[in-house]
Amino acid sequence: MSSNNIIFSEQLLPCGKTMQNRLVKVAMYEHLSSILGGPPNDFHYALYSAWSEHDWGMIITGNVQVSQEHLSLGRDIVVPKVLTTQTIQPFQKLAKIIHGNPPSHTLAILQLNHSGRQSSNVLGGRLPFVSPLGPSAIRFGRLKRKEGIFSDIFHRLLFQTPKAMSSAEIDDVVSDFVRGASLALQSGFDGIQLHVAHGYLLAQFLSPKSNTRTDEYSYDSLLLLNRIVKAIREVVTEDFILGIKFNASDYSLLEEGGAKAAQEERALAHLRQVVWWQTVDFIEISGGDYENPEFMVSPSSIVSRKNSRQAFFAQFSSKLMKELSPMSSSNERPPLILLTGGLCTPAHLYTALTADYAHLLGIGRASVLCPNLPTVLQSRQTAENDLSSDLTPFKPEPDLSLSFTERRPWRWIWMYVPKVTLIGAGVGMAWYAVMIRRLAEERIRRVDDRKDSKIEVREPFEPDYSIGGLGAVLRMWVWIGAPELRQTHFTSHVAVYTTLMILCLGG
Ligand SMILES: Cc1cc2nc3c(=O)[nH]c(=O)nc-3n(C[C@H](O)[C@H](O)[C@H](O)COP(=O)(O)O)c2cc1C
Repeated sequence: MSSNNIIFSEQLLPCGKTMQNRLVKVAMYEHLSSILGGPPNDFHYALYSAWSEHDWGMIITGNVQVSQEHLSLGRDIVVPKVLTTQTIQPFQKLAKIIHGNPPSHTLAILQLNHSGRQSSNVLGGRLPFVSPLGPSAIRFGRLKRKEGIFSDIFHRLLFQTPKAMSSAEIDDVVSDFVRGASLALQSGFDGIQLHVAHGYLLAQFLSPKSNTRTDEYSYDSLLLLNRIVKAIREVVTEDFILGIKFNASDYSLLEEGGAKAAQEERALAHLRQVVWWQTVDFIEISGGDYENPEFMVSPSSIVSRKNSRQAFFAQFSSKLMKELSPMSSSNERPPLILLTGGLCTPAHLYTALTADYAHLLGIGRASVLCPNLPTVLQSRQTAENDLSSDLTPFKPEPDLSLSFTERRPWRWIWMYVPKVTLIGAGVGMAWYAVMIRRLAEERIRRVDDRKDSKIEVREPFEPDYSIGGLGAVLRMWVWIGAPELRQTHFTSHVAVYTTLMILCLGG
């Protein structure tokens, strides 16, 4: 099969819905809401229209928080506490935009998340130093102590020791996820994805580094996830898509000198159970958390094959594929496997499919650099150029080196800063967050210009490679056009910004 045919072949999900191709724009936290979270706004609509103009098989939103008191770093989209015609309306508009105009066959998925102990102080939506919830009272960033005193102080300021959840609080979290799924259903989304990766609450329950419970919710047990999946299936329609994002490894044992194989085996054992439930439509494979943000490894290191992390996830997902293959030949419909992480050249996409690493291809950062990727892929394949051998990245990666940090006194200060700024994923995350915002703002400007008959068409999107790492961090946090700065309750936000400044200076 030609490379394009395999990438653009239709895929049937177990719930009965069909994907028009295998390209998935995976979840990326947009950082575009008001500082203390809120519904989707004009920035989100503009951003998602950039993706929906092209034929992605599936578009997954950035993580939408099910608890207003457990945001990640602020500016999160949040599931409303009460679902009414009014509170649902912005989500309906978002789903409609993802489906395209005129509607295409792209599937719209809402990613649901609870940050648990990775919810930051103040920005997490709680009063200063109010504990978030977690499986056990183990503070995030504990392992950072060995990185030095600044890192330790920063983590202490930014993250509280969580409160170990009671049974009633676990029940509330189940209800919160169900409310999120109802919101997705009522808004016209095709389904949801549960975020069970990257160290957030559902992953915290599965990791020995955050869960020391000895009750039925111990780290070996999938009870919480199972309860959520079951409860969601009870309220949604049969053709509603339910996906999960799962860690191949959380690196907990590695830090304590354990073996990678043991972690993989544990993750595989969990996934075998998930498959056995026969209620999940797709499983996305990722890995790492804020302490070890392996999911953010630089794609260029993968292109040059110096880093095996992409191969690591691919290896894991191929094991899962092998386990599923006898089911595929029977009448059972196992979940589709979505591989994410470093797929940034046509050849990567092609190989992932032909080598049976996955059924679906997850594209994160490359979808920001190249929102029109499906169209680019269609056009790149010519008689002479078969995508299977094309190792040219879709767009260059940013150079986020911080050259000034080579000089004293910055060198001394910076030794500590990258480990604490923006928690692990660091400047790379900031650069992409700024480009996501730029993509949205550019499109909003274009619409405004059109009203004045001054159309400035700037297609395709050109990322700004000039801002560098420090510029990205500053721009991420100082946003002149932020939604709250255009609203009337401006003073309450000034108070939040001031607290933040104090916290940052303290760090
Ligand atoms: C700016 C940014 C925000 C992200 N936000 C999320 C998120 O909300 N939910 C999630 O599951 N993964 C998130 N990720 C991780 C991506 O989904 C993906 O796993 C990761 O970027 C690796 O894929 P890539 O190499 O194609 O970028 C984010 C990544 C970036 C760069």
